[in-house]
Amino acid sequence: MQMDIVDLTANSSATGVDAHEQFALDVLTGLCSSPKQIPAKYFYDDNGSRLFQQIMHQEEYYLSRAELAILDAAQHELPKLVEGENIDIIELGPGDGAKSRLVISGFLRAGRSVNYYPIDISAKALDLLANNLPKDRRLSVHGIIADYTQGLRYARALSGNRQLVLFLGSNIGNFDTCQSQAFLRSVWASLAAHDRLIVGFDLKKDVATLTSAYNDSGGHTRAFNLNLLRRINKELGADFDLNGFQHFGVYNPVLGAMESYLLSVRVQEVYIAALERSFGFEEFEPLHLEYSFKFLEQDIERLCDQIGFGLERNFYDPKHYVVDSLWSVHKNKSLS
Ligand code: AVI
Repeated sequence: MQMDIVDLTANSSATGVDAHEQFALDVLTGLCSSPKQIPAKYFYDDNGSRLFQQIMHQEEYYLSRAELAILDAAQHELPKLVEGENIDIIELGPGDGAKSRLVISGFLRAGRSVNYYPIDISAKALDLLANNLPKDRRLSVHGIIADYTQGLRYARALSGNRQLVLFLGSNIGNFDTCQSQAFLRSVWASLAAHDRLIVGFDLKKDVATLTSAYNDSGGHTRAFNLNLLRRINKELGADFDLNGFQHFGVYNPVLGAMESYLLSVRVQEVYIAALERSFGFEEFEPLHLEYSFKFLEQDIERLCDQIGFGLERNFYDPKHYVVDSLWSVHKNKSLS
């Protein structure tokens, strides 16, 4: 599939701080916090993206399979719920394109023309998906290398078609409540009345099912977490000993989130050349890496309403593990 690509990341930093400096600053802030932490967005270097693809194919990681089942069934319904002869499908973080393919094919089969705009901060991620997209003369693909907000604004300016934004894979779960609200409001602001958004949420469920999804027996989640230390070693000149940290994935019922930690298995010091300083770890001290929030249906309804969307329809997998929630943009509505 032919894809033209625009890169909006060049010279885009509002603060004048480049990506490498920002990474160093975020690691410094995180390692000076208590508990120590590293922002989850740094998981996804090329190796991290590849490791995440492996997680998605693990038996225990039900999320991807469940969402593929949802979209496989929903692809025939969606064109009836999103009108307009030409449609723009904008996807935030498209992954390998397996889910995108289902949604796009549904619209093409219904005789609609589709402009597809996958948005990702990584050019490599966009390369991943080109071969998975349907080949059809009514489909044109315009990759956008950008952060999501910047990419959405760019896509909006390009056309006046009805837009359907996809934010799948329970990526929303990696934001805390404030971040989710701020992010969804920025999506809302970039859309016109009656445009649509599909958000993928992982539902609260039996703790054993959740726990094994984030502690797969093949050790892929462990490798994914340790890769973040490897990335800091490589890019910031650190000397993390990967054998000195143990993966620990646990459900926090108060927050309603899976939490990923690396625990220091001994007292140790780590030197980071880019920061020109060392950081001490106590025995079993946690380094927090990620939240994966889980939702109830009422949480989703509340969030949708608070932001200024209207909930049109929820699509579930047969086990009701995951929901893809279709929202419509309401404008001129007072917020609750
Ligand atoms: C990308 N994100 C939705 C995944 C999740 O389930 O939170 C990342 C992940 N972390 C460990 N396994 C998967």
